[in-house]
Amino acid sequence: MSDLVRVTDDGPVRTVRMNRPEKKNALTVPMYATMADAIEGAGASAALRVVLVAGAPGAFCAGNDLQDFLQASAEAAGLAPPLVRFLHVLARAEKPLLAAVSGLAVGIGTTMLLHCDHVVAASDARLTTPFVHLGLVPEAGSSLLGPRRMGHARAFALLAMGRPLDAAAAHAAGIVNTVVAPEDLDAEAIKAAREIAALPAAALAATRRLLRGSPDETIARIDEEAAEFKRRLGSPDAKAAFEAFLQRKK
Ligand code: COA
Repeated sequence: MSDLVRVTDDGPVRTVRMNRPEKKNALTVPMYATMADAIEGAGASAALRVVLVAGAPGAFCAGNDLQDFLQASAEAAGLAPPLVRFLHVLARAEKPLLAAVSGLAVGIGTTMLLHCDHVVAASDARLTTPFVHLGLVPEAGSSLLGPRRMGHARAFALLAMGRPLDAAAAHAAGIVNTVVAPEDLDAEAIKAAREIAALPAAALAATRRLLRGSPDETIARIDEEAAEFKRRLGSPDAKAAFEAFLQRKK
């Protein structure tokens, strides 16, 4: 359980808010565990109907903690088991997932959005996935879900070239439903969450299953990506990129 993630329930809406603003919400292993528990727990609750993932103003999430990646690289380890579990939980999530994205969304901060059923973004949102620049490969099933969502050309520019998407481009790419002023983000996201929560539960659950299809293909891709990710984490390119970031201000 990490106190760097706040889980609050308001009627049928569970909000899972990443709360490590001093590190731009870079995600650590305990944070993944808490987020996975919160999403899975909502799935098992009759009272909770939707899960809203949120971050801090200007920093939805700066991706995986690069210090943790450097350590995994040194130990020849792969993605931490709680991280892989979080990805599986996203793919298998039983209740609708929403996100409220403010400011930067890097790496998994962007790829987790591909698992969401509804995304509200502030006009300052900026999505980037610098995987290849870091000597890594896309994760979270994004190599499957990305091209499906936005077509190969846009997925390649985002996931391979690391070109950012601003809020308008993310909307045009079909990742984001609504773009709002930053000060309206939370209210708009809660409004959408309540709208979804008020729908007839059984019909919504069946509709969502039909729209999303079986999670098995996504889970298989998450695992395939994780195997490649492990090879890349241990590469000299990746190690040099993590060290360059962590040393940049010294
Ligand atoms: N892992 C570890 N620490 C991170 C981090 C990450 N992914 N992202 C940000 N931080 C830390 C910074 O080291 C800094 O810590 P410090 O104040 O102790 O030096 C703090 O968060 C603030 O970040 P800073 O870089 O000063 O903010 P910025 O607004 O100038 O830039 C980012 C924000 C997100 C663009 C920049 O921090 C960045 O590129 N982070 C790495 C993102 C990344 O590559 N993620 C992994 C993708 S797979």
